[in-house]
Amino acid sequence: MHCWAIIAAAGSGSRLRAAGLDRPKQFLELDGAPLYWHSARTFARVAGVAGIVFVFPPPAKDRAEEETAHLAARENFPLPCRFAAGGETRQDSVRNALAVLPAECTHVLVHDAARPFMTARLAAAVLDGLQAGHAAVIPGVPLVDTIKQVDDAGLVHGTVDRENLRAVQTPQGFSRSELLRAHARALADTLAVTDDAALLEQYGMPVFMVMGEAGNRKITTPADLALLEQHHGNTAREMPRTGFGYDVHAYGGNRPLILGGVPVPSDFTVAAHSDGDALLHALIDAILGCLGRGDIGTLFPDSDPQYTGIESGILLSEVLRLAFQDGLRITHADLTIVAQAPKIAPYRERIAANVARLLALPASSVNVKATTEEKLGFTGAKKGIKVYAVVTATLRPDTRTAGAT
Ligand code: CTP
Ligand code: MG
Repeated sequence: MHCWAIIAAAGSGSRLRAAGLDRPKQFLELDGAPLYWHSARTFARVAGVAGIVFVFPPPAKDRAEEETAHLAARENFPLPCRFAAGGETRQDSVRNALAVLPAECTHVLVHDAARPFMTARLAAAVLDGLQAGHAAVIPGVPLVDTIKQVDDAGLVHGTVDRENLRAVQTPQGFSRSELLRAHARALADTLAVTDDAALLEQYGMPVFMVMGEAGNRKITTPADLALLEQHHGNTAREMPRTGFGYDVHAYGGNRPLILGGVPVPSDFTVAAHSDGDALLHALIDAILGCLGRGDIGTLFPDSDPQYTGIESGILLSEVLRLAFQDGLRITHADLTIVAQAPKIAPYRERIAANVARLLALPASSVNVKATTEEKLGFTGAKKGIKVYAVVTATLRPDTRTAGAT
């Protein structure tokens, strides 16, 4: 058996493009390589796969070929690669790929580039089926949902017994000659199908099914992009970060009390260079702690007149921009306000909601507490207010090293 893999990467990804993606999904970057390359890496780990044909969209073909050559050189890729131009439909693309297989090839695995989580184990299971003599071997998984038949008006006409139904995946394995014959016949008959096995079924060839893998999902809709992010998080090992911030403001200054961007009307004013929002200042310091970027004074010096009276929300947005740039994803903030007076409780929820909004976090990810110090110390003497902030976050390791400017 001499088997090549075909990676179908010539689609336009129209469903994701419609949702705003700027390129066909197979060219999305995942862990430093385009999606289609992840399947190539997996095939390279399967004994029995002797080479790969990549099918790219005609307009992107030259660039994608160059990119593939670059990736192959960078990673010492062990398999020979060939290229084909895609067609109008997936079926056309696969047919074009079949045309560039080397003469000695006896079997093919046809795989969707949009299934980057395919495992070497699954490809090997399909190969085992071919080795056992089946001319067509495809992976399938049982359905988990109840399946109904429904008409255009939304009326349900019955429940389908799902016992013998399977959702089909790739890679699909074939005898090269059988698949070639089926494709040629389908072209002549103008028969259109959505997977290669359907061609063989159509012409009465037996197709054998092996167990697919639940994780072998096809990236199709925006919701599937979350799978990529999740995967990225797992493989790139985002590092947890914790930042601590602390700020004090003395009462009796020139500015009305404001906490977390929420005015707290009271007899107390604060002395401050900016708007004196001790809560946002503590929060900013906690974020800077996660970033390893010093403190608020380093970034926005008191001596700089442009920060006089500035809204702390603006300083926060500047720090969030740095956080984004450094690859920091804030996941939670816990804030403790310490004041004898005024009473913070009536404002607590509003402050938490506003901070969640500023950080673009769900309400449940921001907690605000208020406490007194039992009339002890400077807060007990109503001479000032202090705020403690703890921020938790994850840092992507592949972005610029945090701490540099
Ligand atoms: N494909 C292909 N040539 C085509 C159409 C699809 O090689 N003319 C490939 C896609 O790149 C994908 C796989 O076939 O890896 C499965 O197709 P699908 O998930 O439908 O991808 P697209 O057709 O690109 O997406 P959409 O249907 O949303 O446009
Ligand atoms: Mg499609």
